Amino acid sequence: MQVLVTPDYLTLSRQAADIVAEAVRLQPPLILGLPTGNTPLGIYRELVRKHSEENLDLSRVQTFNLDEYIGLASGHPSSYHTYMRLHLFEHVNVPVERIHIPDGAPGTDTELESTCYEQAIHQAGGIDLLIVGIGSNGHIAFNEPGSSFTSRTRVVDLAIETRENARRYFASEKEIPHQAITVGIGTILEARRILLLASGSAKAKAVARALGGPVSEDVPASALQHHPQVTAILDEAAAR
Ligand code: PGA
Repeated sequence: MQVLVTPDYLTLSRQAADIVAEAVRLQPPLILGLPTGNTPLGIYRELVRKHSEENLDLSRVQTFNLDEYIGLASGHPSSYHTYMRLHLFEHVNVPVERIHIPDGAPGTDTELESTCYEQAIHQAGGIDLLIVGIGSNGHIAFNEPGSSFTSRTRVVDLAIETRENARRYFASEKEIPHQAITVGIGTILEARRILLLASGSAKAKAVARALGGPVSEDVPASALQHHPQVTAILDEAAAR
């Protein structure tokens, strides 16, 4: 695993966006795995800037988001559909038919949706470059501690800590979903290259356990130690 430590969040975001942009320029039909949350906001901002100022062309990429809440309509302000639209897709030129986000809207058969989503990733040829953050409990995507390293896209229950961390995105505690659809750890490990991003002191303990501790299903991100092409980009606070 290559570990890059940057002085701050802005530098982390720029370095990560440079890696993505370079990969897209080398291979325009790149298949990207994309995260949501606080950590990737800077990289999306930078990709939007590269698109408008440096002619970064995203018209041939395909994107697969890593997860989505169950029970929120796609237009709900806290859905990951909305997040992706606001922070990336409405500002760049990824064609809508090349964007994939699991559908967790009310009334969806989420088990079937999970199976179809996993198949869609395979049919596309697998993910070339997958970007992922880390939860303070060591989760990656919504693979909570205890998730199997061979897990696939599926319906999961969210950990208490994950729901607490999501509180700031919802109007009230009771609105926070209890379940999500997430790609599995097995799905993530099949990506050809992985960028792990972590920023801030709240992530330092999870980063230490994931990168330096034993590989264990208690720490989902530790599965990345087994992958041959991982670059972890940390700011100094997360690396501490
Ligand atoms: P964050 O979440 O980027 O909002 O800190 C990361 C995660 O929980 O995977």
